[in-house]
Amino acid sequence: MTAALQIIIQSLIKYDNNWIGTPAVCNLNAVNLNIDNVLNYDQVFIRDFVPVALLFLIKNHLPPQLDEGKEIEINGKEIVYNFLNITLKMHQEARQKSFTGLILMPASFKVHSAGEFQYLEPDFGDRAIARVTPVDSSLWWIILLRAYCQAVGNHSLAHREDFQECMRLILALCFADRFDMEPTLLVPDGACMIDRRMGIYGYPLEIQVLFYAALLSASELLLDNETNQKVKQAVKNRLHTLKQHLQEYYWLDIKSLNNIYRFQVEQYGKDVTNKFNLYSDSIPYAWLSEWLGETGGYLAGNIGPSQLDCRFFTLGNLMAIISGLTTKWQANKIMNLIQQQWHKLIAQMPIKICYPALEGRDWEIITGCDPKNKRWSYHNGGSWPVLIWFLAAAAIKLEREDIIKKLKVDLVKIGDRLAAEDWPEYYDGEKGNLIGKEARKYQTWSIAGFLLAQELLENPQYLALIDFAFDEDN
Ligand code: GLC
Repeated sequence: MTAALQIIIQSLIKYDNNWIGTPAVCNLNAVNLNIDNVLNYDQVFIRDFVPVALLFLIKNHLPPQLDEGKEIEINGKEIVYNFLNITLKMHQEARQKSFTGLILMPASFKVHSAGEFQYLEPDFGDRAIARVTPVDSSLWWIILLRAYCQAVGNHSLAHREDFQECMRLILALCFADRFDMEPTLLVPDGACMIDRRMGIYGYPLEIQVLFYAALLSASELLLDNETNQKVKQAVKNRLHTLKQHLQEYYWLDIKSLNNIYRFQVEQYGKDVTNKFNLYSDSIPYAWLSEWLGETGGYLAGNIGPSQLDCRFFTLGNLMAIISGLTTKWQANKIMNLIQQQWHKLIAQMPIKICYPALEGRDWEIITGCDPKNKRWSYHNGGSWPVLIWFLAAAAIKLEREDIIKKLKVDLVKIGDRLAAEDWPEYYDGEKGNLIGKEARKYQTWSIAGFLLAQELLENPQYLALIDFAFDEDN
């Protein structure tokens, strides 16, 4: 797989004489001829760079490359350092133009060159298709900053005043008074990896889990000083209420399903059982009770006023395990479910981004008739190789030998297939056996996600870069 790593390294982008990140697609020329529009796939995305960065932090001394005729050393940690600094700089510049001084991290950025001169153009969602808001970027940024500190073995970068300030501002935006009272973050549709309309507005799981992991990271990285006193207390309080909320209201297993099935409705007051006024008829009990079995469980996709989104979202559930947001017992139930439903979730290509797919009238209303998100395609039940690393990490954390063994065997076949098919962005079909209809090839995070999973399975100690202890283990 050194060839795969080479592809990533050769795509590295330079700014101001430093390597600063990788574009969403590593090789735009050779293979995407049937897709005439580059769109923003030549940009460095924060979320896409995360698995690349983790891989770089682990490997550090990367194979030397020829640069302007000279062979030069490539240092993985240095690239992540540069990436964190450059994104911080863009954040600082954008702040100046914002009315409140509060702003998110961009979804992506592009390095433009005009002769010798280079400049950066960030996209805060103001250029993105459908103008989606990249809420996850700021959260991933804090999580990555913590991973970098873990890798270098000290907190000096995070302790720099400009990094402390940036964390405080991101948190201030998350903690700002809003029009609701929940400990979760209220966001518009498409605010994360699923960056299109998919009925995930409100309180989608992925954002809540990343919020939790970012808060944990910040609580480690924020200095104990007077300036940080208030924000540190706010982080502590929010971690507690957020965790309780997710563990209680998002949790679905056969027992909680039974409770919801027999819920009283129209209850008023503080101590009610059906807090969100869920109506039993809105829950797909038939497939849910089959799907869950006796030993499975998972965190639901979203919960809000009279709405429980029962779709299974992979990133959110796996990251909830990695960040220790669930109890250990819940984490193992999520893994039981994945084990039981391997033929549906993993099938011929890991892993479905969500399950099941929306179809018919639901698809029309919820996606706005988006043809790219037809059932079992792209974000609507498509299979994304990048998600493999989350599964490997969660299985290692829980010491689930059953999953680890299976993954190790499957990864050989999967790696051969991905390489032969030029690392597609995603796969389509209920079995995940069709290269995604509009999938880019040489998608950087497909390569990085696969290599990272392999690396973690071989060297589980590197999980420390990204994981957080369960409450029970603290
Ligand atoms: C697609 C994905 C998004 C990713 C981007 C670049 O828009 O939905 O998650 O960041 O492509 O790869």
